[in-house]
Amino acid sequence: MLEVDSLETGYGKKQVLFGATLTVHEREIVALIGPNGAGKSTVLKAICGLVPTWKGAICFGGTAINGSTPAENVTRGITFAPQGNRVFHGLTVLENLEAGGFHLANNDLKGRVEEIFALFPVLERRARQLASKLSGGEQQMLAVARALIPRPKLLMLDEPSLGLAPNLVAAVLDRVCEINQNTGIAVLIVEQKVRESLRIAHRAYGLRLGTVVLEGSPSVVSSPENLHQLFLG
Ligand SMILES: Nc1ncnc2c1ncn2[C@@H]1O[C@H](COP(=O)(O)OP(=O)(O)OP(=O)(O)O)[C@@H](O)[C@H]1O
Ligand SMILES: [Mg+2]
Repeated sequence: MLEVDSLETGYGKKQVLFGATLTVHEREIVALIGPNGAGKSTVLKAICGLVPTWKGAICFGGTAINGSTPAENVTRGITFAPQGNRVFHGLTVLENLEAGGFHLANNDLKGRVEEIFALFPVLERRARQLASKLSGGEQQMLAVARALIPRPKLLMLDEPSLGLAPNLVAAVLDRVCEINQNTGIAVLIVEQKVRESLRIAHRAYGLRLGTVVLEGSPSVVSSPENLHQLFLG
């Protein structure tokens, strides 16, 4: 479904990715792990079109999508919940969700919001409240929910557990897993909480210094030697 081949990119003159190659198949949850600054967020940003590709190819459903804008990629079926607290604090929960469906007709959008409320009842109860009034965990749920509004084929999550208490980390990831199982949506997830993300992933990649250095099943990737090599090697 998604094929990233020998991707090179960076910011200004600074090169960050030096030939990253990875694949996400249909219905798969794929975890991308690695030390701080390895380029994990940059991989996701390049896929969704927030940073340009310098070299290499990004294909989605057999179509080259290098050079596409984030909006074009949303209509293709790729959505992104970025790292950090990226809900609109000055908007209500409902308005945040509506922002995720900017490209949908009003009727479609209404239906989608209803479906999302069924998945996240807590958000329905808080629909008219400002997003700033939600707890950290609820805001992360909102960010994930907003990325689900367009009914994507591929959901990309950048550190959905950031800043959450351990019990909430598991809750957010369990919800992601459940949505994957119920809807078949593919997920590419970047997580600092390595063990937690490998728990829900079908496959994983390890990124170090802008290159994929490790690839395999969660049990292989999470062996002590591999994790040591990836994070400290
Ligand atoms: N907007 C930017 N402008 C310039 N350099 C950037 C920008 N964003 C990231 N970088 C640099 O690119 C490199 C990779 O950053 P990236 O955010 O992709 O890493 P990461 O693996 O997601 O790290 P973390 O685990 O800390 O989130 C870092 O050296 C970072 O300083
Ligand atoms: Mg990051």
